[in-house]
Amino acid sequence: MRVRVLPDEASAVALVADRLCEILAAKPDSVLGLATGGTMEPLYAELVTRFRSGHVSFAQAKSFNLDEYVGMGPDHPQSYHHFMQRRFFDHVDFQPGANHLPDGASPDPAQAADAYEASIRDAGGIDLQILGIGRNGHIGFNEPHGSLCSRTRVETLAPSTREANQRFFSEDQTPPRQAVTVGLATIMDARRVILLATGQDKNWAVHAALEGPVSTRTPASVLQTHPDATIVLDRMAASALEFEDRHALA
Ligand code: GLP
Repeated sequence: MRVRVLPDEASAVALVADRLCEILAAKPDSVLGLATGGTMEPLYAELVTRFRSGHVSFAQAKSFNLDEYVGMGPDHPQSYHHFMQRRFFDHVDFQPGANHLPDGASPDPAQAADAYEASIRDAGGIDLQILGIGRNGHIGFNEPHGSLCSRTRVETLAPSTREANQRFFSEDQTPPRQAVTVGLATIMDARRVILLATGQDKNWAVHAALEGPVSTRTPASVLQTHPDATIVLDRMAASALEFEDRHALA
């Protein structure tokens, strides 16, 4: 696992965008694993800027997002389908049908999860998986104390996750209790992984994931055993690392 600590959010985002663009330049038909959440908003804005200036094309790429809330259709303003469409897909040149998210609105979400896992396999697996991290160490919606070898499935969200995500919902709405998420084993199958974490509120999760034991208590810690994982942090997200000198400023 490589750790890169950048001085601020903008330079951390730029480094992830650089890597993604390099990978797409080398393999234009890459299969991208994509994430949602506030951390990803500046990354998608940066990628849209680079697309508009002709520095990257997604025309041959495919994407698979990590997760979707159960019970939310693509038109729901808080759905991850909607987030991805509005923040990214509407502004770049993916071909119609190239973008995939789990079907949270399916009458049988468990079956939809199995079908999604199969569709990732059928696409040849993920070349580059982009990840954020939850304050409790979750990746995708793989919450603490699940299985380290899980596949795409329905997950019940931790109260702390629902609380953290309340900021995306209006006062009279609460986040759903369940989501369909790609599993940890599916993430570990990706040929490369880049986790982006910014801001002080991620520093405990980053410390636990990078310096704690590999444990279901901190799902992101499983990345310690991935053969090609890069963790990109700003100074604030790195601020609780005990062995900070091992991760000198990039
Ligand atoms: C969300 C998503 C994750 C995301 C994480 C952090 O709930 N399911 O994929 O990485 O939590 O989100 P944020 O970047 O908003 O802090």
